Amino acid sequence: MKRLTLAALVLAAGAAVAAPKADIAKGKEVATTICAACHAADGNSGIAMYPKLAAQHSAYIYRQTLDIKEGKRTNGSAAVMKPMVMNLSEQDILNVSAFYAKQQAKSGEANPKQNDPVLGGKIYRGGLVDKKVPACMSCHGPSGAGIPGGGTEIGAYPRLGGQHMSYVVDQMKAYKSGQRKNAIMEDIAKRLTEEELNAVSNFIQGLH
Ligand code: HEC
Ligand code: HEC
Repeated sequence: MKRLTLAALVLAAGAAVAAPKADIAKGKEVATTICAACHAADGNSGIAMYPKLAAQHSAYIYRQTLDIKEGKRTNGSAAVMKPMVMNLSEQDILNVSAFYAKQQAKSGEANPKQNDPVLGGKIYRGGLVDKKVPACMSCHGPSGAGIPGGGTEIGAYPRLGGQHMSYVVDQMKAYKSGQRKNAIMEDIAKRLTEEELNAVSNFIQGLH
């Protein structure tokens, strides 16, 4: 038993050495020269159309950027970004993902007069039992910080806290229609009415 554990540890250490390492200084260069135009240099985009990337998990940023580059994620305004990342290597994307993951996220605010943030909070924290909608919190965290990925096939559960409401609504609709592919989120989004997904998205914008 002890021997086995040791062997597993050695294997894991070997894998860690073999995996490419992110260079944050080089990542900052890519962020400033390319991504900043839309996502802001520190990832706290002030324009609702461009999602915030600050403090997002690097494994998630990496996967989404690669998917947009390779035309696997085409929903919403992904086409606007595609030509900007066409010439980046996987190493460039790894670097810039690590850079944005290290940036401090600025918190947003829910609109108290719109889209029932109370209902939104209820869905986020407790789900909708009757409709078998799980609490968003169980994967995206109580403060919306998400859960980092293991660096393997298990991708990260993305950070949602403070994200622009209209962007979140668009993503939920894209999952609902199957335009954006993800088995878990497609199933959840299909169970929510427009009113419910507006409410939970408004709540998410103010979550921190
Ligand atoms: C010309 C504007 C533009 C530039 C430049 C740009 N993006 Fe984007 N990016 C977008 C838009 C628009 C979206 C939202 C697409 C959608 O509607 O789903 C997006 C989405 C993303 C997402 C998905 C976010 C999420 O929460 O799922 C990531 C990650 C991302 N961009 C990373 C980058 C990186 C890294 C760079 C620089 C190498 C970059 N982008 C450059 C416009 C841009
Ligand atoms: C069982 C885990 C799980 C639960 C519960 C869950 N999510 Fe997700 N969510 C994910 C995963 C995994 C992704 C990444 C999917 C992808 O790669 O497209 C995701 C992605 C998202 C995104 C896209 C984020 C972005 O930056 O583009 C939104 C928005 C979202 N979830 C909202 C919600 C809401 C709202 C709820 C509750 C009603 C919820 N999720 C419940 C696992 C979950």
